[in-house]
Amino acid sequence: MGSNTRPCAACRFSDRPCAWAAEPPPGDARLGEQLYAQKNCNLCHSLGGISGPLADLGGSLDNLAERRDMAWLRRYLCNPAATLSGAQMPLPDLNPAEIEDVGAFLLSR
Ligand code: HEC
Repeated sequence: MGSNTRPCAACRFSDRPCAWAAEPPPGDARLGEQLYAQKNCNLCHSLGGISGPLADLGGSLDNLAERRDMAWLRRYLCNPAATLSGAQMPLPDLNPAEIEDVGAFLLSR
């Protein structure tokens, strides 16, 4: 975890270094695509015509950039429940740099 991150005050997991002290370096969409597969995001989502078994639960992530931006994704992927009331998505196992990468990937689709 880089020293450029600080704990997220809004987070239930207050020790989770999910916020950036300064503007983070841009995410790498190619790494984000790999993380999306590795972390089984596909399980509860559909994207680019590929659906997991629980895709109805999380819904489609196609055209995400039309409704969300990186600032929102940073908060949501750090702690879904603190960002969206009634959120059912489990806390993703992504560190701050990985959140940038996954965000860059999702916003490019
Ligand atoms: C166990 C099921 C599940 C898994 C696994 C899961 N999600 Fe989700 N996701 C959801 C649900 C349910 C929602 C709808 C909002 C909510 O309830 O939090 C959601 C919403 C989202 C949203 C917001 C979509 C929108 O239209 O606003 C994003 C972005 C997202 N998920 C990304 C991911 C990523 C990235 C991963 C992998 C690290 C992942 N999800 C893994 C269930 C899941």
